[in-house]
Amino acid sequence: MSESLYLQRQSDRFLAAHPREAGWVVHQIDGDSAREVSLNYLLDCLGEWHQAAVTRRMAFPLVAAGVFRDWNAVSNEANAYSWRGTIELVWNGHDIHCHKFSLVVGNGLAEIYFVATKSLAAFRDLLLVLDRYGQARHKEKKEIYVVNGDNIPVTAHSWDDLVLPTHMARDIRVNVDGFFSGSERYASLGIPHRRGFLFAGPPGCGKTLTLKTLASNTPAKFISVLGTADVDDGMLRYAMDLAEKYTPAVVLLEDLDRIVQTKEISLSHFLNLLDGLKVLNGVLVIATCNEPDKLDPALIHRPSRFDRVWRFELPKYDQRLALLRKRGGKFFSDPALETAARRSDGFSMAYVQEIIVSALLECTHDDLPPNDDHLFKSLDTLRMQRKEASKPGESIEERETVGFCQSKNGDG
Ligand SMILES: Nc1ncnc2c1ncn2[C@@H]1O[C@H](COP(=O)(O)OP(=O)(O)OP(=O)(O)O)[C@@H](O)[C@H]1O
Ligand SMILES: [Mg+2]
Repeated sequence: MSESLYLQRQSDRFLAAHPREAGWVVHQIDGDSAREVSLNYLLDCLGEWHQAAVTRRMAFPLVAAGVFRDWNAVSNEANAYSWRGTIELVWNGHDIHCHKFSLVVGNGLAEIYFVATKSLAAFRDLLLVLDRYGQARHKEKKEIYVVNGDNIPVTAHSWDDLVLPTHMARDIRVNVDGFFSGSERYASLGIPHRRGFLFAGPPGCGKTLTLKTLASNTPAKFISVLGTADVDDGMLRYAMDLAEKYTPAVVLLEDLDRIVQTKEISLSHFLNLLDGLKVLNGVLVIATCNEPDKLDPALIHRPSRFDRVWRFELPKYDQRLALLRKRGGKFFSDPALETAARRSDGFSMAYVQEIIVSALLECTHDDLPPNDDHLFKSLDTLRMQRKEASKPGESIEERETVGFCQSKNGDG
């Protein structure tokens, strides 16, 4: 089913359940606007502050799908930004129904909310409370400080949530911990206490999730520069200055390929920052990028810049199955999950996760407990959407092997 058809179907269902004649007004809100009005906090805010307002909840956070239908387990683990499903509540005496789902757009996922209400005043009041909740949460909880965007709240991320090839997570962890515990060793060897790591690989394979897991488990200040937003030399310098002020610190350069392509960045200035005209002791730089082979060789072929590269490849069968079991083991049979793992060769981890998420969503619509048919239907829909998202004239297999990172060894 194409994205527009899928959207149409979701919207038809929602509108049919909330007819205008009955006084409902339906709003469609996309991910960016939802972020502005703090709607992403709905699940967490109601769970922590206003449980009694909820009349029906078929929503679940992606980070810990195991907490489906279980309020108490939600709290800290819930990733405020990634819940999906339906939440119905009564606010100031008025019904408000929210439905959140995601749509495959190109290589990524777009989040969409439908909100139905009979009272705009009640909805506005709810948004005010969500905003207040968001502010309180930012104050209380650890955040990644973002120099060119909104700070990222760091909720509890466990290493168990991350599925990576054997030893990879441990290797990253050991290197990061070793960096921060080894300042005396660096000093005794007479070398500056600084290192650079690079996480490389296609979208949706766990680079950012690993950064968040590190942020949640490492006692250091995390400062991030996003390549997807406006960035210039001044911001990079500012990030480094902040890191120096707050050491021990980690500077994250997200989407390094985009950062260095920006017109406002001069490569020589950037290299000088990394090499340290002044020595930044206790600062670890971790950059992410999709295609390291396209980066300027000056960046990666000099040890003091990025001395370790970890490749986050498209997941093999075993990793896909591990993620499917983690997220869906409670709802679907093991043979069905194995079939899904076999038939999702070439999917990124984000897509693999989406198989479970949309299957669960589908069953919330049908008001049925999840069964294997929901899983297969969701798998087929995603396979179809990916096929349609690929460029005309290009087969899905061809598209999946573009770039350095391929999964062509027929593991699926
Ligand atoms: N290795 C993984 N283990 C468990 N979940 C994963 C993994 N990789 C991705 N996911 C799921 O997919 C989501 C998106 O992944 P993430 O943001 O880490 O991708 P990325 O590699 O940073 O992609 P991009 O290059 O687009 O920034 C994660 O929040 C997580 O829910
Ligand atoms: Mg990322």
